[in-house]
Amino acid sequence: MTTPAPETAPPPQREAFRLALRALASGVSIVASRDGDGLPCGIAMTAVMSLSFDPPSMLLAINRNASLAAPLLAHGRFSINILGDGDAEWCHQFVSTPPAERFRTADWADHPLGVPVYRGALASIVCDVDCADDFGSHIIVRGLVHDAILGEHRRGLIYLDGRYASAAA
Ligand SMILES: Cc1cc2nc3c(=O)[nH]c(=O)nc-3n(C[C@H](O)[C@H](O)[C@H](O)COP(=O)(O)O)c2cc1C
Repeated sequence: MTTPAPETAPPPQREAFRLALRALASGVSIVASRDGDGLPCGIAMTAVMSLSFDPPSMLLAINRNASLAAPLLAHGRFSINILGDGDAEWCHQFVSTPPAERFRTADWADHPLGVPVYRGALASIVCDVDCADDFGSHIIVRGLVHDAILGEHRRGLIYLDGRYASAAA
């Protein structure tokens, strides 16, 4: 006989949980969209994962207070721009720049589907929001893939133990 799972999980020890997450290596992407005035917006994200091939789909977890959250949900379309290991300093500059100024460089192109795409990305994936669910501090966004663009093949940029690092297959 199996014991039923508790309806709510016990609260994890917060500090142990924080430290445990530092051991989780994650690829770094810039997720970008447009606001109500058509201006580009975006943040760096590690909470990006592939969901399925059938249908082609992705999952994001965005903090509801992030500058990207409201515009992405309103616009309904976004790009996931997967960074290479040469982008660590560029990414740091991007996140350190005020949101309204992050796209004032020639590093971004306009995708025909109406979202910004990073010219230097290993790959960019353009999605439409399929659904979005609230979960505590975050919004879980499911995206249906409409296009994938391949850039130059390089090592990936990962975030591990609070630092950027390089990942090679
Ligand atoms: C490496 C890295 C990964 C991040 N991953 C996420 C993430 O997965 N989800 C998220 O909501 N914010 C993430 N952030 C935070 C956002 O990129 C951003 O710094 C934060 O939302 C504050 O910027 P804003 O004022 O434009 O919202 C990450 C930041 C860094 C540097």
